[in-house]
Amino acid sequence: MTSINEQLTHEFQDALVKSFGENFKEVDPQVGLARDLRHGDYQANIALPLGKKLSKKPREIAQIIINNLSLDNICETPTIGGPGFINLKLKTSYLETQLKSLYNDQRLGIEKIKNFSKVIVDFSSPNIAKEMHVGHLRSTIIGDCIARTLEFLGYQILRLNHVGDWGTQFGMLITYLKEVYPDALTQPDALEIGDLVDFYKQSKKRFDEDKKFQEAAREAVVKLQSGDAESRKAWQLLCDQSRREFQQIYDRLEVKLTERGESFYNPYLDDVIQSLDAQEILEKDQGAQCVFLEGFTNKSGDPLPLIVQKSDGGYNYATTDLAALRYRIKEDEAKRIIYVTDAGQSNHFAQVFQVAKKANFLPDTIEVTHVPFGLVKGEDGKKLKTRSGETIKLKDLLDEAINYARKDLENRLQSEDRQESEDFINHVAQTVGISAVKYADLSQNRISDYIFSYDKMLALQGNTAPYMLYAYARIQSISREGNIDYENLGENRPIILEDKTEVELGKYLLQVSEIIKEVEKTLLPNRLCDYLYELSKKFNRFYENCPVLKSEEPLKTSRLLLCNLTARTLKLGLSLLGISVLERM
Ligand code: ARG
Repeated sequence: MTSINEQLTHEFQDALVKSFGENFKEVDPQVGLARDLRHGDYQANIALPLGKKLSKKPREIAQIIINNLSLDNICETPTIGGPGFINLKLKTSYLETQLKSLYNDQRLGIEKIKNFSKVIVDFSSPNIAKEMHVGHLRSTIIGDCIARTLEFLGYQILRLNHVGDWGTQFGMLITYLKEVYPDALTQPDALEIGDLVDFYKQSKKRFDEDKKFQEAAREAVVKLQSGDAESRKAWQLLCDQSRREFQQIYDRLEVKLTERGESFYNPYLDDVIQSLDAQEILEKDQGAQCVFLEGFTNKSGDPLPLIVQKSDGGYNYATTDLAALRYRIKEDEAKRIIYVTDAGQSNHFAQVFQVAKKANFLPDTIEVTHVPFGLVKGEDGKKLKTRSGETIKLKDLLDEAINYARKDLENRLQSEDRQESEDFINHVAQTVGISAVKYADLSQNRISDYIFSYDKMLALQGNTAPYMLYAYARIQSISREGNIDYENLGENRPIILEDKTEVELGKYLLQVSEIIKEVEKTLLPNRLCDYLYELSKKFNRFYENCPVLKSEEPLKTSRLLLCNLTARTLKLGLSLLGISVLERM
């Protein structure tokens, strides 16, 4: 379907040509949703920049454009606001026809991109032998949402898990385990991840305290990285152990990822250094190979280097990211690469991108984006901890959310005197618990730190997953109550917007494609959450004011169409957030 924005843009382009001549054919009239809904539904901002260009008052320009607009089928007579905004108020009759097209469109007016292109989303990416922490959880949830949204828009998505499986931790671990628990290096399943993390902590302690151990650990890394069979086997076992644990989290979250850890790029690291060297951008600084950066300085104002090879010859995190970037562009043929990590890594990515540009690894046609996010905090504003003060394990955190959801549900069932099967209770608790965690994260502007609170995320009122899931389930219950088959309401029955709340709901339903486009542009999932929340509220207002099953035809069917359209929009929106709906809860 042609969206409202497209239709308006088209009409404005005609008016611009009529007003100022053929040269203005390609000018973007800057049509968008109105900033202030009191003045209209849409606005066009073109008069302001044109005023400058044509040395006229923007309000005058706006009036000329309005005189040449033929929007009678779409809007009331446009008005001019402020310095020269053109305000547009949509006609109800127009909304009704647009809603009809929206209803008949499987994709709810959200068009697929015209030029097929490949996007890599690098997200989650925990580190082997270390605990997967809440930062990785955030990356997983946000990254998954971005991947789902872009995928729906028609991009080909490669979801990469850049796990830390090649660092110095293996030298320490292997050396330590050889001493205290050699079985772990030869036998699968000798370890549980809890142990592995403990062993890692202990080996780190040894490393920090014991010079001899340090030596041995360094040698072990070199041995591993040069391909020694025994070390490789041990490394594999350790990785498998972590991997199984990570997978449990992904299964619970229903997130799919392709693992391609740091080790994958090992064969390409040398080449990165050689290429930098050949281009004469490599410099030796205190024994390390570096590229000096622009715009990054240390405390005394001297330029900062990006180290790509340490003085002992070892490579580091940045070298791997440079190799990965090259591989993803050359071999994967990605046109855009999105990295989802905490904001603490912003400098790392800015530096890697800068060096990649300088070294011609990163052509201008390829877009790289770091998607940063803030910290997860406990309700006391400090680092998230268990009640007894230990760091929280992700698995426990998710289980706890499910437990809370189950308790809420059981209380509700009791107070409503409802009997439900154990399967039903399990399914609802699982869905609500996990959705609540995801939604609480996604509904925040990702840049800000976020306070993790089970009570808030599971509340039935407010901008929460349960609220949204209820709105959806309620709509489904209307059809059950009235014995209505939403799928067969009749394609050609009209949508009639009679009540004010109906108009509001209808108008809002028509905005979904613009919201999704905004998420595509900003990679801010909270925009979608805000929309879904507002939509649920508008639906509830409509439902309070307008009888559905009890109204007469043709209003009854029209209202059922609006109900179903709302449900479809919620379902689609939630699915892009990685949340599945419940027909009953
Ligand atoms: N493993 C890293 C960490 O835990 C995140 C990796 C992000 N991706 C990347 N290509 N550097 O912080």
